[in-house]
Order: sequence, then C-alpha cells, then structure tokens
Amino acid sequence: MNDSIERIQNEARSEISSAPNREELERLRVHYVGKKGVLTSLLHQLKDLPADKRKAMGALLNDVKTEFENVLRLRQSELSRKAIEEELAKAPALDLSLSGQYSSAVGSLHPVTRVMEQFIQIMKRIGFSVATGPEVELDYYNFEALNTPEHHPARDMQDTFYIEPPILLRSHTSPVQIRTMKNKRPPLQLIAPGKVYRSDYDMTHVPMFHQIEGLMVDKHISFADLKGVLHYLVKGLFGARPLRFRPSYFPFTEPSAEVDMQCISCKGSGRDCRICKSTGWLEIGGCGMVHPNVFRAVGYDPDEISGFAFGMGMERIAMLKYGIDDIRSFFENDLRMLEQFSC
Ligand code: PHE
Repeated sequence: MNDSIERIQNEARSEISSAPNREELERLRVHYVGKKGVLTSLLHQLKDLPADKRKAMGALLNDVKTEFENVLRLRQSELSRKAIEEELAKAPALDLSLSGQYSSAVGSLHPVTRVMEQFIQIMKRIGFSVATGPEVELDYYNFEALNTPEHHPARDMQDTFYIEPPILLRSHTSPVQIRTMKNKRPPLQLIAPGKVYRSDYDMTHVPMFHQIEGLMVDKHISFADLKGVLHYLVKGLFGARPLRFRPSYFPFTEPSAEVDMQCISCKGSGRDCRICKSTGWLEIGGCGMVHPNVFRAVGYDPDEISGFAFGMGMERIAMLKYGIDDIRSFFENDLRMLEQFSC
C-alpha cells in the first residue's frame, strides 16, 4: 500500500501543479480528495488493515491529504493570478467605463441668487456700482433719515423685527442710500443688493427676502432718466416690454410710483390670466425721485442736485421669471424644486 501511495502522491503533485485551468483543477480536487476520491477510498480501506499498521497508515494518509490540499490551494492562487494578469494584459490601461463607487452631487445657484447676479450684471453695464450696508440697522437709517419719523403712518407698511430699539432688522435696502450718500459726494450711480426683513408670512411674503435698491444722484437727474434705466433693466431681465408707472407713495421719494411691467404670460391682454390676475400688468417694484428731505438729511443741497431711487424684490422677479407661485418654496430647501435650476 505504501508504494501505491507514493505513486499516487507523485502523480497528484505533478497533475495538480500543472493543471492548465480552474475547471481542470476542480476535477483533480474531486478526483483526489473528494467524497468518492482516491484518498477517501484509501481511508475506507484502513479498517481492513491489522491494528498495528492501521495507526501509522492513518497518520500517513492524513498527511497526504493535507499536502494535497496545500498543493491544490497553491495552484488555485497561481491560476487566479494568471487569470487576472491575462485580463489586465487584454484591457486598456485605464477602464473608463467602470462606474465609481461614489458620485458627488453637483450643486447649483439658488434661483434668487441667479436673478440677483443677472440684475447686477445688467446694471454694471450701464455704470452702476454695488454698495452694501448692514442687515442689523439703526432706526435712523431705516426710517428717520428716509423722511419717515417716528409715528409716521408709513412705518406700518414696513413692520419689522426689533433687536432692541433703536436697533432693528432693516425692512428695505433704502438705508444703504443714506449710508452711501453720507460718505460720498454726487455723482452717484449705485445698486444695493441684500437681505431685508418684515413680519409677514403668506403665499407672496416671507419674513426674510432680497431686494436690490437703485440710486442715481447728480445735477439734472429727471424722471426720464429713471424710466430709461428701468426700461433697460427690464429688457435685460425679461426682454423688452412696456412699463407702466402708477402714482404711489413712499415717504422718501416725491413723486413716487409703482412700476408695472406688461404681463409676460398674457402679453397684456389680461384674458383669463392667472399670472397677472387678468389685469395685464405685473408689479415689479417701487420708485421715485429722491425727496428733498432725504438730501437734507445727508447734507446735500436739494436745490442743486436731484436723483431717482427704486427698489425691487428679488423673489418677486424670480417668481415671475420662472413661473413660481409660492414664495415660500424658495426657502423650503426642497431639492426637487431647486434642482430645476441647475445647469
Ligand atoms: N424701499 C421701498 C420698499 O421697500 C422701495 C423703494 C425704493 C421705493 C426706492 C422708492 C424708492 O417698499
């Protein structure tokens, strides 16, 4: 029996270590160490041996089995490595078709940011520069210097949040007019973009929103200049369209007007139009000629210089531009809404 074991060992070693592929290796595994394999049948024959030889032969067969398993494992890993090397030799150096395990989401500008940036670019083209001011503001800049003294009924239109009087959250960007005029002499041509605050909350009002203020001050500035600038601005934002100036009231401008643009949806016909509520017009902001008292407050001589100012809500412009009904959707952080504006 020893002889035949040695023969089997030699045969198995050479067959296994030269097995050409995994299928053949598997066949050899079954043949030598499988349930009905050569070694198993030898182990079965142990019981026929005399007791004194049985133990030694048993140990020998176990060693042989261990050796076979080792040789099989070795050949198995050699074949795997060979298979990988062959694959790599065939494939191009870098497999660009392989998808990554992680993909990173690409962000995009918020629709309000987009509109503001567009607005700023348009105004820069006609010589307006950008000014900024604090969101936490003093009553003086937000109201007082804008010809809106305490107890003035116009304060009701802009009820805001008070940190501790006279410190408040600015209710519009108009205080930037005062801050800039106090620091500079005419001619001035500026816009002031930023966040503003009011205690409002419904489909068209939120407690924080964005405005852009416009201010132009020099000798001989007239309402015609205001109209020209607003036409240019609207043309850049929506394409050329008729504007309508509706007499209105702001304490810091005189005369004052609300600016309406012809409805982009019904083109002014007003027929069954949800967007303009069938009026044919869409309100886009407030404007007027700077009030003499405002000039006095900043030390300008109203007899010598004149100017216009306007203010527009950016959410309102974005709602009209993108057909959004509810202003609150800008601030709900719902990606399904925001992703529509990624490019
Ligand atoms: N500040 C005004 C508002 O927020 C808008 C405005 C600005 C009106 C400048 C006239 C001139 O309602």
